[in-house]
Amino acid sequence: MQRWLTGRQTPKSLDKDAFAALPRHVAIIMDGNGRWAKAHRLNVAMGHRQGTETLREIIRHTDDLGIGALTIYAFSTENWRRSAEEVAALMQLILDFFASEIDELDEKGVRILILGEKDALPPKQRDVLTEAETRTASNTGLRLNIALNYGGRAELTRAARRLAEKVQAGELSLEDITEDALGGELYTAGQPDVDLLIRTSGEMRLSNFLPWQCAYAEFVFPEALWPDFTVADYDEALQVFASRNRRFGGRP
Ligand code: IPE
Ligand code: IPE
Ligand code: MG
Repeated sequence: MQRWLTGRQTPKSLDKDAFAALPRHVAIIMDGNGRWAKAHRLNVAMGHRQGTETLREIIRHTDDLGIGALTIYAFSTENWRRSAEEVAALMQLILDFFASEIDELDEKGVRILILGEKDALPPKQRDVLTEAETRTASNTGLRLNIALNYGGRAELTRAARRLAEKVQAGELSLEDITEDALGGELYTAGQPDVDLLIRTSGEMRLSNFLPWQCAYAEFVFPEALWPDFTVADYDEALQVFASRNRRFGGRP
């Protein structure tokens, strides 16, 4: 198994301009594990396992580049619809991933945050995730957000309810319900909006991922299936991002 490396050089496939215009927050929909497994005549669980190898490389590269925040979509609120066997394999991968990566991540100063409803996960997974968050809470390096049992609509509904509770308790008035107030009740409170959204495998949809945070994100859809997605593909997406003209509704 490939381990974390340190002191990596500036990527050759990323030119100076792209390096100067890196996104502050990258979000990735890691899609295509199932198709990868099928193409290799393997069980879908092996596709997910191979996907975690890609994930390790992509986290490392994000950290090397000095990008501030990375949010990855690991399991959606809709992914419970998959077979019990596949869900179990994904749950096991959570344990394996943290067992093998948490020391290195912590050493690198990565701060881990889980986006999503942890309480609905099996107790072991819940504990491991909470432990990873607690252990890395005061780290000041890359912010690694892992969307797990996450749904954008669920997140927004939860935020609305939390605001309503505060109004009901008399802590907040209706005028206080602003975009900032709502953003402050999201899992990503205090973090910048997503600048670049990458979805691998050629699919071009959001699948309930960060609808609020991606309001002005640039979207890039590489063809590679997630287990095949390389650091060079990632650099290419960053290069594309740097070439985009972001207007935010204005007329520059
Ligand atoms: C994405 O890969 C990983 C998760 C949803 C957890 P898929 O399993 O969705 O891969 P495809 O879309 O079937 O190829
Ligand atoms: C989104 O991918 C969820 C994750 C990558 C974790 P899906 O493969 O579940 O999305 P759909 O069903 O194709 O929209
Ligand atoms: Mg998929």
